[in-house]
Amino acid sequence: MSSRAGEAHLLVASSDEAFGRLGADAIQAAWNDSPGGATILATGWTPIPVFRELATRHARGELGTPGCPIVQLDEYVGVEDSDPRSLYTWLDREFLTPLEVKASGVIRLRGTTADSEQECRRFDAAVAAVGGLHLAVLGLGPNGHVGFNEPPSGPTASTRVVPLSPESLASNARYWEGAEVPVEGITAGLELLLSADVVILVVAGAHKRDILRRSVTGPESPEVPASYLRRVPRLIVVADDDAAAGLTQEEIGSRSGPGI
Ligand code: F6R
Repeated sequence: MSSRAGEAHLLVASSDEAFGRLGADAIQAAWNDSPGGATILATGWTPIPVFRELATRHARGELGTPGCPIVQLDEYVGVEDSDPRSLYTWLDREFLTPLEVKASGVIRLRGTTADSEQECRRFDAAVAAVGGLHLAVLGLGPNGHVGFNEPPSGPTASTRVVPLSPESLASNARYWEGAEVPVEGITAGLELLLSADVVILVVAGAHKRDILRRSVTGPESPEVPASYLRRVPRLIVVADDDAAAGLTQEEIGSRSGPGI
């Protein structure tokens, strides 16, 4: 098992605008480094300022439509695209449509196929067929999950269907406006995410402060799936003041690998 430790950078934003700019700059830099390199994108609240900044740059003519395959990170099981609460619909609304990415340029991970296992293997093969992941833009769950890789998830966790944790059900309830939250998700596996050259982890809010610290300075542990992200060659943490409070570049930049 790989135990490489790459470089890590902490970028702290003191406003939503700065958060959006830092995140968008980091994404554009990764795209410039490897034009065409497949990019997997989280949905959720945290990336929104970043996606909106990218959309603004696109609308101003400063940024073209990404020339890379866009990869869906996760989805609720049993939720159709026509449901406005599906994660794909969220990605479409916040990223694909504003940046004029065609549906044919997206590698889907569907939660409504008859055979989920086959869907997971098809998805992994489709990502491999475009040369693997270059960039992963990920959010951080309040319990340290990335995608729907819920604790415990280790570095070899595969693309799969997972029961959602009580924490995720509670945190997702706000998107579902009183309706019952789906109890299963389908997610790109942690192993696939760790194969990316660059991970941009976007984190906002005081409620994520402790889990961010554990993720980037604590020991690697399946109980904190995000703790394995330090293995990728380049990890960029874009955090707001509240999430980053007390954390320093020295702390996250000077770790020596697993088990520290
Ligand atoms: C969503 C996803 C999740 C979120 C995480 C943080 O596609 O994969 O892991 O990134 O739950 O969500 P927010 O940003 O809404 O706090």
